[in-house]
Amino acid sequence: MELTALEQEILSYALNTAEARASFRQRFLRKGGILEALFAQLRTLPETERRTMGARLQNLRTLAQQRLSEAEATTPTPTSSQSLPADPTFPHKIFQPGARHPLSLVEKRVVRIFQRLGYTLAEGPEIEDDWHNFSALNFEPDHPARDMQDTFFIDPERQILLRTHTSTVQVRVMERQKPPIRILAPGRVYRHETISARAHVYFHQIEGLWVDEGVSAAHLKATLSYFVAAFFGEGTPMRWRASYFPFTEMSAEVDIGCLICGGKGCPVCKHTGWVEVLGCGMVDPNVLSACGIDSERYTGLAFGLGVERLAQLLYQIPDLRLFSQNNYLFLQAFQGYEHAF
Ligand code: PHE
Repeated sequence: MELTALEQEILSYALNTAEARASFRQRFLRKGGILEALFAQLRTLPETERRTMGARLQNLRTLAQQRLSEAEATTPTPTSSQSLPADPTFPHKIFQPGARHPLSLVEKRVVRIFQRLGYTLAEGPEIEDDWHNFSALNFEPDHPARDMQDTFFIDPERQILLRTHTSTVQVRVMERQKPPIRILAPGRVYRHETISARAHVYFHQIEGLWVDEGVSAAHLKATLSYFVAAFFGEGTPMRWRASYFPFTEMSAEVDIGCLICGGKGCPVCKHTGWVEVLGCGMVDPNVLSACGIDSERYTGLAFGLGVERLAQLLYQIPDLRLFSQNNYLFLQAFQGYEHAF
């Protein structure tokens, strides 16, 4: 009697949800369930009844197991999309694209401009020797840049150091390649400075070198004027200042009218209205010779751009430290900028 009702219940139990199947299992198949309680009562019955009851209980248990495995086979387990409400006005998942670092954006922009002028990319190691960083570049043995105050030495005895400029790549390229040479070399450089809004122990430069017959100061001036107009826009205030580098003769520096304060004066331009963005000059014949290039026949122009400076002006960034702090809000501001040039 009681068992007939149970059989009915097993047969009619709705098993279409995971929750329903769990409680079905608990009721009929688990320890503490109703079938188990009935099995326990068998002991109290006389021998003959015990056998028939035992067989019927066993049948019920088999029936319950069958129903459960059938239900599990036919009911698909819900996937996440099925469990979501079918509401077309429900907001979709917000897609957060990454952003390129502003220094990478600037590097890419510079490289594109010089590629139009036929420059190809070159690179060199950040760990260098004295020859490539100083001696081949015509630095006198007692030049102050060779001092530990300015340069990080990895092995002072063997004069192994972290390069202080990308001009090392000029030497590496000229040593293995004969003119015509026209290369651009972006990279990180290191200097022993106190970290502040205006200086850091590492920063980035992009070196340019063009060596061929007849390369002149007119080419240098035209190339860099073209670059400034292409990078910052036509009509950007620009000025040339005579300067000195051991590896160029003549040497100059280029300043850009400060785009942060509009030339009125601010901490980035040290209240002068001008920011220096590059050093340049005509390759000193001594450097050509040191690299095995005939300095009677060939001349060269070279320049080194400061990537952080360019980025500061282009994106109006007042503090250099922002470039290395990995501040999420700062980096997020450059989302989508790679399509902007
Ligand atoms: N290497 C120089 C610097 O780090 C820049 C420079 C490069 C100047 C090439 C002239 C020619 O300041």
